Amino acid sequence: MITTPLTRWFDLTTPVIGAPMAGVAGGELASAVSRGGGLGMLGISGVHSASFVTTQCAIPAAEQLPFGVGLMAWVLADRPDLLEATIAAQPSLVSVSFGDPAPYVARLHDAGIAVAAQVNTAADVARALDAGVDVLVAQGTEAGGHTGHRATLPLLQEVLTLTDRPVVAAGGIATGSGMAAALVAGAAGVWIGTPLLSCTEGLASPAARQRILAASGDETVLTRAFDVAEGIAWPERWPGRALINDFSREWHGREEQLLDDAAARQRVVEARRTGDPADAPVYAGESVGLVTAERSATDVVRELDAAAEKALRAVPDLLA
Ligand SMILES: Cc1cc2nc3c(=O)[nH]c(=O)nc-3n(C[C@H](O)[C@H](O)[C@H](O)COP(=O)(O)O)c2cc1C
Repeated sequence: MITTPLTRWFDLTTPVIGAPMAGVAGGELASAVSRGGGLGMLGISGVHSASFVTTQCAIPAAEQLPFGVGLMAWVLADRPDLLEATIAAQPSLVSVSFGDPAPYVARLHDAGIAVAAQVNTAADVARALDAGVDVLVAQGTEAGGHTGHRATLPLLQEVLTLTDRPVVAAGGIATGSGMAAALVAGAAGVWIGTPLLSCTEGLASPAARQRILAASGDETVLTRAFDVAEGIAWPERWPGRALINDFSREWHGREEQLLDDAAARQRVVEARRTGDPADAPVYAGESVGLVTAERSATDVVRELDAAAEKALRAVPDLLA
């Protein structure tokens, strides 16, 4: 069994956190990850209601499974109801990413809830530490969804020099050897999103799942084009990593012109409505080429853990 400060803190049997992924990670996916011995998280964005938070959190809670909730700082500024519903659901961990977590940490701590934050730069680390965040998540640019510009491994190494608090690695980790590498580098755990994208318990549409299964790791783009098209007020420093599709081929890098083209923007809105992955965003990270089968998230987590343990047991063989 692999034990780290993360497994001890949250009473897990493997140091794997199922990333909060808005639109994919609801209560069923979080439950399935936690059933595998990790900590499953729900992803909440500005499109969600407080009652969605309540009903989805009730799913793992009903089975007495540990769970977490991922919130976005820039969304919370106008949506305090999402924070209230989250606190009422009593998760073990809440992440407040993509913005300053400071206004929310004390409320969460007062409710007995540990706080994580994804960080993308050294400046983010200083801000998260000042805010009193308990777990830092070094999120590399390889990650699916919204992320920064620095790569996972150099970011992780630097974050580890800046704090003694547990640091979790996110972005591009999808195999047991990848997980072992992050742990050997000093991470207290891994935060996986892309490996869960085609899981049967997730909320992704069948068409999106098929695209995920078929895509290679060469087929992602880090772009603001979809956010501009959908009129979502994501801060510019966090573009989103998605599968390359017809829309991104045409509009990535031309976001200024897109602002003046209502018909082009409407293509994405319409594709979202109909679930057409040719124009709608399918957010996924660079490890997407390793996702080749539709499986239960419980199996994904268990197999990742077993393969990581095997890789860690082989580490001493490297020494003369
Ligand atoms: C479809 C999708 C949606 C995501 N939504 C959120 C979110 O709502 N909140 C959040 O903090 N991170 C979100 N992320 C980022 C993940 O938390 C995480 O950093 C990332 O998936 C880890 O890298 P990986 O995809 O390479 O495993 C999302 C990622 C994906 C792929």
